[in-house]
Amino acid sequence: MENLFRRKGLVVEVKDLVKIYRSRAGEVQALRGVSLRFEPGVATCIMGPSGAGKTTLLNIIGGVDVPTGGTVRVGDILVNQLSERERDRFRLENIGYVFQALNLVPTLTALENVLLPMKMLGLPNAKQRALELLKLVGLEDKANRYPDELSGGEQQRVAIAVALANDPPVILADEPTAELDYENARIVVDILTKLARELGKTVIVSTHDPRVATKMDRIVRLEDGRVVGEFSPLDLEKQVGQAVAGGRVEVSLAEVIKMKLASLDRELELLEERYRRGEISLLELVDRVNKVVATKNALKELLSSIGVGA
Ligand SMILES: Nc1ncnc2c1ncn2[C@@H]1O[C@H](COP(=O)(O)OP(=O)(O)O)[C@@H](O)[C@H]1O
Ligand SMILES: [Mg+2]
Repeated sequence: MENLFRRKGLVVEVKDLVKIYRSRAGEVQALRGVSLRFEPGVATCIMGPSGAGKTTLLNIIGGVDVPTGGTVRVGDILVNQLSERERDRFRLENIGYVFQALNLVPTLTALENVLLPMKMLGLPNAKQRALELLKLVGLEDKANRYPDELSGGEQQRVAIAVALANDPPVILADEPTAELDYENARIVVDILTKLARELGKTVIVSTHDPRVATKMDRIVRLEDGRVVGEFSPLDLEKQVGQAVAGGRVEVSLAEVIKMKLASLDRELELLEERYRRGEISLLELVDRVNKVVATKNALKELLSSIGVGA
């Protein structure tokens, strides 16, 4: 991955961001004064219910949309002061955007879709790089397929390769796992967190998928256009525990169980890591893994008993 990406992340800072959509039906205040700072090397997740303003926030950071009030700074660029043309250029050079609605060009192959942003900047060796990006997302053998010849998960992975084409310092992903099965979601989350942790990019992901949230470094909770809290994934796990123990159900039972399952997966990874580092014996590893797996199976049964697949 190191050879493909050389540019480090940029600080992204939004201040007092307000967005009002006006239509004939009336006004909608999508953002009501949002101030946040995002650091390079950190994968942040914006969590919140549908309508909270997640897409609006990402669109404004990415220069797709303009705020009604407030400022957006990416590195030393004041995005809210750019003209529309300047914003297009800014986005092409600095932002990798994985949109909520898959935005591949249907008449271009996977390879051609990845080539497109590089052609627009006139980068050299574009084809070689595009093939390597497709390899990164595990699709080197499907480079010549058209989007409608790929599964939803594969299309999403092509969309990620497209977003990474110009080695952008800032990566935005809007609900990137919404339509994905477990395996595809895992691949997508893995790439996004690596881009931050290993390559120092600034990564901002919106989601209401706990499989994503528990893997990120930082979780910002957005509700009704306002930031209502910030947690580390560890806090989230504690909350889940309390919600289960105290019957205080803010989130649906299925959501809680899924969060717990995701945190158990993380626990399994940590156990393996600790074993590899020689901190626990093989016997202890097997014992603890068995217990976690038993808990996972019990939770999965519970999920299917309430009519939800894990
Ligand atoms: N183009 C638009 N015109 C009018 N209202 C919009 C538009 N885009 C979003 N909204 C409204 O703004 C609010 C926030 O939307 P959005 O940012 O899409 O939320 P989320 O991504 O968290 O679901 C919602 O009430 C939504 O209906
Ligand atoms: Mg949205």
